[in-house]
Amino acid sequence: MSALFSPFTLKDVTLRNRIAVPPMCQYSATDGLTNGWHQTHYESIARGGAGLVIVEATGVSPEGRITPGCLGLWDDGQVAGLARIAANIKAAGAVPGIQIGHAGRKASAQRPWEGDDHIPEGDPSGWETISPSAIAFGANLPRVPRAMTIADIDRVKADFVAAARRALDAGFEWLELHFAHGYLGQSFFSVHANGRDDRYGGDLAGRSRFLLETLAAVRAVWPERFPLTARFGVIEFDGRDEETLSESIELTKQFRAGGLDMLNVSVGFSTPDASIPWGSGFLAPIAERVKRETGLPVASSWNIDSPAVAERVVLDGQMDLVMIGRAHLGNPHYAYAAAKALGVDKPSWTLPAPYAHWLERYRAAE
Ligand SMILES: Cc1cc2nc3c(=O)[nH]c(=O)nc-3n(C[C@H](O)[C@H](O)[C@H](O)COP(=O)(O)O)c2cc1C
Repeated sequence: MSALFSPFTLKDVTLRNRIAVPPMCQYSATDGLTNGWHQTHYESIARGGAGLVIVEATGVSPEGRITPGCLGLWDDGQVAGLARIAANIKAAGAVPGIQIGHAGRKASAQRPWEGDDHIPEGDPSGWETISPSAIAFGANLPRVPRAMTIADIDRVKADFVAAARRALDAGFEWLELHFAHGYLGQSFFSVHANGRDDRYGGDLAGRSRFLLETLAAVRAVWPERFPLTARFGVIEFDGRDEETLSESIELTKQFRAGGLDMLNVSVGFSTPDASIPWGSGFLAPIAERVKRETGLPVASSWNIDSPAVAERVVLDGQMDLVMIGRAHLGNPHYAYAAAKALGVDKPSWTLPAPYAHWLERYRAAE
């Protein structure tokens, strides 16, 4: 019996296996709206057999998009397209999830294949960015954000709540708050971005306040039966690793007390001056520590680069769900291929009959 292919239940939701497709921006929307690309992309990946498919970072406001091509949920008119995607993911046997977020000081950027830099100041396709403090990320993202007022903070929290309601209306059954990767939530937590001297900055309690208040506000509207999760960068690899990780674990305990159901453990990406030890499954021991010290179920990703590694991190209890990203872009039927590689019997449950019939025949003949 494969650990990776065992079901996983969180709240009232059961995933058919431990393979999750993490949010991956397609940068292909106009005005935050889905189009045929998104429909086909998500549907084909869901057919491939993963237990959970999380739709890409979706802006809670126009200013919260990373690029002009990012999806949005700030308007009721954006619900219908996402509802079709959620229904198609579900019809393919996976649980439909979505990540909502605000890009903070990393917003107003070019699509990666158009440069990946901030859109130059004065270019009409760009916009004013906001962040806890007027501190730029630097490197390819030099735009100095406007420091948020308390009114801005209250508005963004309300935007998260409104987006969460729309995600529910669209039929999503798994919600992930994007508190990672140097975007707004991570920036409140990070000493690299938060220099505030009011109650939203300073010590750990101050730097945690925006995240905890946003979680509480969303929890109040997101049904208890569906998982509410967050992606959070628990470490920066900036030389202050133990301090950041300890603080992250403290905050995660508070996330848990505040009703969070799972943490998607990631890297902070709050500073260009980080030295990340990219390697096969390099976050797994960190995810395991977060899980052990907080008691919260965890998911994680980054370079879980073979089915055998994915199987091992679940078997060893390092994570409950394995997020497989880029491999799904290369092969939307990754889960089928992984089942085959791990010798899991009868993986036909992962594929619809028009594919499974033929692939099973070939398999039997091999
Ligand atoms: C094209 C692309 C877009 C991404 N967009 C997001 C995103 O919207 N939200 C997010 O939290 N992470 C995003 N990521 C990070 C992935 O979710 C994932 O963590 C990363 O690809 C590492 O996993 P992998 O090694 O299996 O690809 C993106 C990654 C890629 C390659």
